[in-house]
Amino acid sequence: MPVHTASTELSVWRTIKTERFLVGAPHYPEHVDESYWERDALRMAQAGFNVVRLGEFAWHIFEPKEGVFDFDLFDRAIAVLGRHGVSTIMCTPTATPPRWLTRAHPEILREDGNGRVASHGSRQHADTCSPVFREYSRRITQAMAQHYRNNPHVVGWQTDNELNTTTSESYSATALKEFQAWLVDRYGTIAQLNCAWGGDFWATAYESFDQVVFPRDFAPSFPGPGHVQDYHRFLAFSTARFQHDQVEILRAAKSEWFIFHNLGHLRDIDFRGQFSTDLDFAGYDLYPLLHDEIHRIGNHARIQALHLDVCRSFSGNFIVPEQQSGFGSQPGFSTLTPEPGEMRRMAMSSVARGADGLMFFRWRPAHFGAEIYWMGIIDHDDVLRYRYEEAKRFAGEMTALKDKILGTHVRMDVGIAGADFDNQEAHKTYPIGLPSPQEDGTLLHQYCYERGIACGFIHPEDDLSRLKLFYVPHWIMWQEGWTERLEAFARNGGTVIIAARTGTRDTNNHVIRTSAPGPSASELTGVHVEDFGRLAVPGANGLSSVIGRPGGPIVLPDHPAESHRRIRKFKIGNRELAAAHLFEDIAVDGDVEIIARWSNRYAAGTPMAVSRKIGKGRVLYVGTYLTEELTAALADRTFAEAGIEPLLVDLPNGVEVTMRENGHRRLLFIQNCLDGKTELKKVPAGRNLLDNNAPVTGSLSLDGYGCAIVELD
Ligand code: GAL
Repeated sequence: MPVHTASTELSVWRTIKTERFLVGAPHYPEHVDESYWERDALRMAQAGFNVVRLGEFAWHIFEPKEGVFDFDLFDRAIAVLGRHGVSTIMCTPTATPPRWLTRAHPEILREDGNGRVASHGSRQHADTCSPVFREYSRRITQAMAQHYRNNPHVVGWQTDNELNTTTSESYSATALKEFQAWLVDRYGTIAQLNCAWGGDFWATAYESFDQVVFPRDFAPSFPGPGHVQDYHRFLAFSTARFQHDQVEILRAAKSEWFIFHNLGHLRDIDFRGQFSTDLDFAGYDLYPLLHDEIHRIGNHARIQALHLDVCRSFSGNFIVPEQQSGFGSQPGFSTLTPEPGEMRRMAMSSVARGADGLMFFRWRPAHFGAEIYWMGIIDHDDVLRYRYEEAKRFAGEMTALKDKILGTHVRMDVGIAGADFDNQEAHKTYPIGLPSPQEDGTLLHQYCYERGIACGFIHPEDDLSRLKLFYVPHWIMWQEGWTERLEAFARNGGTVIIAARTGTRDTNNHVIRTSAPGPSASELTGVHVEDFGRLAVPGANGLSSVIGRPGGPIVLPDHPAESHRRIRKFKIGNRELAAAHLFEDIAVDGDVEIIARWSNRYAAGTPMAVSRKIGKGRVLYVGTYLTEELTAALADRTFAEAGIEPLLVDLPNGVEVTMRENGHRRLLFIQNCLDGKTELKKVPAGRNLLDNNAPVTGSLSLDGYGCAIVELD
């Protein structure tokens, strides 16, 4: 079984120290008659599953009445599974507090920004910051930990379930008291808080902490960004504290247990803070076809790759505790359906990007409740069909190849700054219709994805030395210490690209009082910003993405001429391109090469981007946001010189490639994300581990949704 010690080293390069590749399914024995259990366990064993995840919504069964515990049902289910060699990951069931609890303590319920109190009847209705709820959460965790500590089949734990996925916010009276207490700890005196939040603006100052209110949007206007930033820091703190209560209890009960959380929608969780240092590894729930519904890109393979690369930046390799297997729905939406062969392909894509374990959601679908058409491995009629066969094939492959796969990390030549809670939130406190840092960085990620270039997200405090290029998308809350790290990376031969607006606010969310990008970044890049302004997004008639509010903006039906649209163009190399979102007019202070200038209107001739040689590498500053064209121009300008090459040349449309490697081996993961056959021509020499070690010398043919893992010679 996996043997773990919690590590505080959060690094994208970290692998999971586990002896087996965990493969199986979240399972709900409480949803079917006990007569199914033996057959279920047998079928799982025959599919090669070694683990199930149980219990995350079963608090009402574990504790049917306050203080009365009953583990009988799950004990029997775990024993049946264990007899067939299937271990159990147990969950703390705190995403669904039972009715006796919400009835006795309605004050634990969340309240939204409009004063609507959450109701019993769905999930995540309780406030994780509530001291009363925390007390009950500790009690059920303690009871379960004590009960299962001697059960050999229970091998690890998941905390709660997708904390903050439904909502992270609460504006209840309980939450307010906790927020005020957190502020006392943070600031000590109310004068400090007033200074940090800018209390002299719009008379938002307080005389004491108990006067502090929540930042509520449109009540009736905008709250200040310092106030909003601290509210989200508080939510992240409360979430981590809630989880920490449980982790402490579980670790004290049995130190051999591994503990993770299954991340969902990534709201108000500081992944590089205590939330992750408390865990052995991250879990990331993956629903590519659902994510695609949300992003509306129409390419769920690309979305999947993006989500996995973002997730890996928090703390390295992870497991996927829930991977979409079939059609999915809740009453208000549904997703497209993975086609035959695609479920295995999606699972393989997850492994290709750092999953060291994977469970297919879910073993069988529910016949009742709010997810009756969230399909699983087995259908409602209990018949085994293609999803079972694919899961079986995947489980067999991962078990056979575990010694090759485990212990390898995902290669990245191009790193995009990511995983920083303060920067992500600082953008949200004052978005002014601009793309978030992650949205900007996504253009570079997608550029690399389509060309088979090893790329991902990484925090500047992580080990940058394994990268060739590091891109910083407008990280406004820059920390001076990061500049030194970037400089060292460049001196050793790396290429750094710093984008517009970086370093323009301090940790209180105040605009800095020197020229952007701030003293250290100015020195590093050799520039300062003289002027900046907003630009329309490409193709827009005027400004777009005006923040919505009741009544909405006035939209005029005409199409202004270009001269009125104030389009900004620039020349980079021999291309003239239109800029988008934001411009900066920069002034050069140091010994730099100007690589792009604004080329029209009053700014013609003003520098837009520069490159400065430092040691064996270089640092670029770019005074605008990425567009697809600018991304390509910057890649043309820097990639070859930085030694960045695709992992596979001439990558056919719809084929994705990554490399997992360590000092001993290099595994090229290749997935065909389309349903038709495809041919690759220039695969480096090696052996295809998914095809009986067949030698690969140049060409490789993949069926629709076909996959290969080529161990390179
Ligand atoms: C996840 C959640 C599961 C299930 C699944 C499908 O977000 O953890 O409990 O709801 O989505 O909707």
